[in-house]
Amino acid sequence: MISIENLSYEVGTACILQDVTVTLPKGGMTALIGPNGAGKSTLLSHVARLLPIQTGKISVDDLEVGNCDSSALARRLAILPQQVHFATRLTVRDMVAFGRYPHSQGRLRSEDHNKVAEALEAFGLTPLQNRFLDTLSGGQRHKAHVAMTYAQDTDYLLLDEPLNNLDISAARALMILLRDLADNSGKTIVIVVHDINFAAQYADHLVVMKQGQIACEGKPVDLVTQALLTDVFDTDAHVALIEGKPFVMP
Ligand SMILES: Nc1ncnc2c1ncn2[C@@H]1O[C@H](COP(=O)(O)OP(=O)(O)O)[C@@H](O)[C@H]1O
Ligand SMILES: [Mg+2]
Repeated sequence: MISIENLSYEVGTACILQDVTVTLPKGGMTALIGPNGAGKSTLLSHVARLLPIQTGKISVDDLEVGNCDSSALARRLAILPQQVHFATRLTVRDMVAFGRYPHSQGRLRSEDHNKVAEALEAFGLTPLQNRFLDTLSGGQRHKAHVAMTYAQDTDYLLLDEPLNNLDISAARALMILLRDLADNSGKTIVIVVHDINFAAQYADHLVVMKQGQIACEGKPVDLVTQALLTDVFDTDAHVALIEGKPFVMP
């Protein structure tokens, strides 16, 4: 479980996160939703120690994020940040192999090679494995980044807007894969998604952020209502129930 207690974060005079306390359950898939600028990426970045904790405490099971060994954290938790910077003259395979670094320290053993091959296969990248990243389409490059995160093979996977750049087929394939990892491999998936319908269809638990705070949390069917869209997203889209799941009519 990821436990976030009284986390606040300020940049200059702006309060980006304001006394956030929330527990992200172990196992299953939690989706973090909320309007642009709500603080979702900032929150995930803190959990993965990409930003220093100013106030508050975060722990991932027995690891305290502010204090633990960084390689121990990297073996427990992987993050796909919203903005990924990449070296263009890197092949897809080399990039995915970076995901093994916390396990191999750069000297890949056979189990590392196997994990890289598995990740390439899972994302349909095997035929592209020797291509340089700057020769790929945006969507293909994006899949390579997700595959690198997957290859890290951690208990916790944090993905910040992984559906960006993906067509509907690739987006569905990714969500189905993540669901399978949660259901059959004991992984905990935390995902930021803009499409509330994807969140409602696939996630077990939703955490809604607004203006640097947690607005509400719960099961998609209880949470995704017209009131949520009005109060949090400031829009009056209609919500229908299809096969027992809420569906926002855009
Ligand atoms: N380094 C920074 N300096 C100033 N403002 C920032 C910085 N990082 C984030 N913010 C602001 O914090 C707010 C939350 O950002 P972010 O966590 O990226 O939101 P979200 O991921 O929910 O869209 C935004 O208003 C953003 O402009
Ligand atoms: Mg963001």
